[in-house]
Amino acid sequence: MIIKPIIAGNWKMHKSNDESISFVGKIQKRILDDELTEIIFCPPFTSLFSIVGTLDNSSFSVGAQNVHCDSHGAFTGEISVNMLDSIGVKYVIIGHSERRHIFDESDHFINEKIIAVNSSNLIPIFCIGETLEQRESGLTDKIIKEQIELGMAKLDSIDPKKFIVAYEPVWAIGTGKTASVLQVEDAHLKIKTNLRILFGSKGEEIPVLYGGSVNENNAESLLKVDGVNGFLIGGASLKVDSFCKIIDIVKNFER
Ligand code: PGA
Repeated sequence: MIIKPIIAGNWKMHKSNDESISFVGKIQKRILDDELTEIIFCPPFTSLFSIVGTLDNSSFSVGAQNVHCDSHGAFTGEISVNMLDSIGVKYVIIGHSERRHIFDESDHFINEKIIAVNSSNLIPIFCIGETLEQRESGLTDKIIKEQIELGMAKLDSIDPKKFIVAYEPVWAIGTGKTASVLQVEDAHLKIKTNLRILFGSKGEEIPVLYGGSVNENNAESLLKVDGVNGFLIGGASLKVDSFCKIIDIVKNFER
C-alpha cells in the first residue's frame, strides 16, 4: 500500500498570531496546492483559529501541539479535543519528547490523550523516541516497544488513515544531530513490526514520520529510508525557504 507522504511543521513556542498568518501566506504563494502530499502546520494555540481560517479551502492542514484527555472541567490552562475539533483543527501532536521530559508527561497520561483523540475526528501525531543515554545503553528497541505498547494501550480499533506515529530520537531534536540512515531504518522497521504485532495489517499501514534535525540537506536521504513516510520538523519548519525546500523534495521524490 502506498502511504501519502506527510510533512508536519512543529512550531513549538514560536510566532505570534500575525507572524503565523504571514508565514502561512508566504508558503501558500510558493507551494502548489495539491492532494498528493499532506502538509500540516502546528502553530501555538493562539494562532490555531486564524491559521485554520487562512487555510480554508486549501489542501494544507492545521494541527495543535497538545491536548487534554478530558472533555471539559477544572483543568486550568488546558484545551480539549472538542475545542480543537470545533475550530477546524485536524491533527494534534501527542507525547512529544519536550512534553515527556520538560512537563513530565507519563506514558499513562499520553495513552489517555491518545484514547480521547482516537475516538474523535482529530488525528494524533504520536511521538516516540529514545534518549541518548538509552541508546548508548542498548535500550532503543525496548523503549520504542514500551512507548508504543503503553501509549497505544486500550485502543478499541485503529484506522491507519487516522493515526500517525513519529519517531523522534530525543538526542536528535533541535541538536543538529540527525540519526544516521541505518539508525532510522532500523528504528522504523522495529516500529512497523510492533505496530503489526499489535494491530495486524492495519498497524503496518500507519504512517511513520521521522523527526530530529530534518533540514533541506538531509531530507532526501532520510526519505529514501524504507519505512519513512514523511517528517515532523521543528527548527526548519520556521523558515519559509527551508520548509519550502523540504516540501519540494518530498513532492518530487520518486517512490
Ligand atoms: P527539530 O525538532 O527539527 O528542530 O529537531 C523536531 C521536533 O521537535 O519535532
